[in-house]
Amino acid sequence: MWLLCGCTSKCLLTSSSRRVVRYSHNFLGKSFNKAACLPEAAGFEGVSDHSGLQQFSVSQTDRFWGAVARQRLTWISPFHTVQDCDLSQGRIKWFEGGKLNVSVNCLDRHIHTFPERVALIWERDEPGSEVKITYRQLLEATCRLGNLLRRRGVKRGDCVTLYMPPCPLAVASMLACARIGAAHNVVFAGFSAEALADRIRDAQSSTVITVNQGVRGGKVTELKKTVDMAVQSCPSVQQVFVAMRTENPVVMTARDVAMEEEMLREAVVCEPAAMDSEDVLFLLYTSGSTGKPKGLVHTQAGYLLYASLTHRYVFDYHDGDVFGCVADIGWITGHSYSVYGPLANGGTTVLFESTPVYPDPGRYWEMVQRLKINQFYGAPTAIRLLLKYGDQWVNKYDRSTLKTLGSVGEPINTEAWDWYHRVVGDGRCPVVDTWWQTETGGICIAPRPSNPDAEIVPGMAMRPFFGIRPVLMDSEGKTLTSNNTSGALCIAQPWPGMARTIHNDHQRFTETYCQPYPGYFFTGDGAYRSKEGYYQIIGRLDDVINVSGHRIGTAELEDVVNQCPAVAESAVIGYSHDIKGQGVYAFVVLKKGVDVQEAELARQLQDMVSKSIAKYASPDFIQFVRRLPKTRSGKIMRRVLRKVVERDLDGLGDLSTLDDPAAVQEVIQGHQDLCGKEQPQ
Ligand code: WT7
Repeated sequence: MWLLCGCTSKCLLTSSSRRVVRYSHNFLGKSFNKAACLPEAAGFEGVSDHSGLQQFSVSQTDRFWGAVARQRLTWISPFHTVQDCDLSQGRIKWFEGGKLNVSVNCLDRHIHTFPERVALIWERDEPGSEVKITYRQLLEATCRLGNLLRRRGVKRGDCVTLYMPPCPLAVASMLACARIGAAHNVVFAGFSAEALADRIRDAQSSTVITVNQGVRGGKVTELKKTVDMAVQSCPSVQQVFVAMRTENPVVMTARDVAMEEEMLREAVVCEPAAMDSEDVLFLLYTSGSTGKPKGLVHTQAGYLLYASLTHRYVFDYHDGDVFGCVADIGWITGHSYSVYGPLANGGTTVLFESTPVYPDPGRYWEMVQRLKINQFYGAPTAIRLLLKYGDQWVNKYDRSTLKTLGSVGEPINTEAWDWYHRVVGDGRCPVVDTWWQTETGGICIAPRPSNPDAEIVPGMAMRPFFGIRPVLMDSEGKTLTSNNTSGALCIAQPWPGMARTIHNDHQRFTETYCQPYPGYFFTGDGAYRSKEGYYQIIGRLDDVINVSGHRIGTAELEDVVNQCPAVAESAVIGYSHDIKGQGVYAFVVLKKGVDVQEAELARQLQDMVSKSIAKYASPDFIQFVRRLPKTRSGKIMRRVLRKVVERDLDGLGDLSTLDDPAAVQEVIQGHQDLCGKEQPQ
């Protein structure tokens, strides 16, 4: 057990002193000018402020991104073409001809200037047991692991699946893949064995990397055992690397590799592969509106550039700041803002292993004080939860280091926004509500960067980032040009961070994102543009629900529920939930003649969802009905079901197309029996 193990006493770094450095906050950037805002823009004529720069970035896209890419990335050989894109064909290529290595950009180039700077602060589950890893140490671990992967047959173009909690070895694993030219596929360690197996099979991984056990919120989870279960149905898997997060031994088979031990035998120098800009960097699975999750593909140069630029400017990240993104590395937020963005910028980034309420609801703010975090990036669901516990958990701790507060994953309601701003940030930190998606690679709409005195309206994502041209579409596919209007949110031109395809299914990529509004990238979200031209995200337009900032397709849930032998059919919808944003509500029709105890069956169905997907996806409510409201052509009317659950009976609308209007009455009655007169929470 070495370097990154669960045992602090053996780790190379002790925690820092507890002295709090007071930050004299000039976050509004008194020195704001073109050069300070974006040094790369120095050569852009006519650009005098942020909005000028934004204009320039969308009108002279190639000049903008060409200059930024040359400045910010370290190339092995230069690119010859900034972009070759045709959204209507689903063709997206950036920086062709260029060769680079992402791990070199995240590690080696910083080693020359600050080898001993802390790259990662691993905020382990137990408060006060953080471990700091310098750039030199992270490079060393990455190289050893890169060599080990190579020696054990992992080749350029292979895809390695990671099933790990946020920890330095997970980051080293991602970067080791990047170093040798393999793609990684990080699967959130809360997913079940079945969900993991689906993703391993789809990615065709022969190597899986995991840890013996996970530790979160004081509870131990058996991650290695879950991998053992998963790989039983994954013939492609030949080896499983196992790192030790706890000291508890696990059963190792001939297929398993004791990762830390083997790493120690490897050299600390590892030749980086010269990758083409458009080679795959990683796959990341996310839910869509069909049952099968899609493996979105991100490539090397464009993704890294976009992650680094957004990290630098949306959060106003400066050299020496400590960046605290509390997302799990299993989601895109963890990829772009715990790992790639901050490391490409030579930053110090926090890997958060715990939960917002462990050991108590002061955890985040105690951590902010102890680690002297300057930018805190979290999810509205956690803010809403903590708000309920009261201000005292925040006020107990010194948060004077905070400069920017970020929010991501779902709309942040004004009450949560206000509390975040007023209580957590003492009214002096800008709150940046950042809108983006797994597909976009990085933040696309956010209040910052912007001219320093520019207002931020609570609950609004506000302004497009450099290179982003948002467009709203009406139901006929026409562009809405006026303000104070809502429509389907599209992005009118390609940007370097966007996903390139869906693994093994380019057709699904073009159908989902490029064809609904030909020539535009369709986000799946609806948005409102205010009188002033600011954007507010309304929510998904498709059958995808957002539970605590995690996307889950209703079709995926129905597929699981329908597998139960007693179930004839089902319809799953999202309903608004106080804390989670949305909760899962399932309507279930049983097969004729089935005689079961409903409460017992409901529990079984919840269990099935936890086992097939993940605990967070499990339905909060299961309502058994004799039939579902359908159109005459047999389509389930989800709109009607949603209105019933929202108690908006006046909004039921036109029911004349229903096959059997009486079905609605039954659904209403059954809903009241299940949830009482109040709306479900
Ligand atoms: C979906 C993307 C982006 C990283 C985390 C989620 C919703 C995301 C916001 C926001 C309103 C938001 C959208 C989007 N969403 N950020 N600031 N305001 N909605 O990534 O799992 O790919 O989900 O999350 O509906 O489409 P994801």
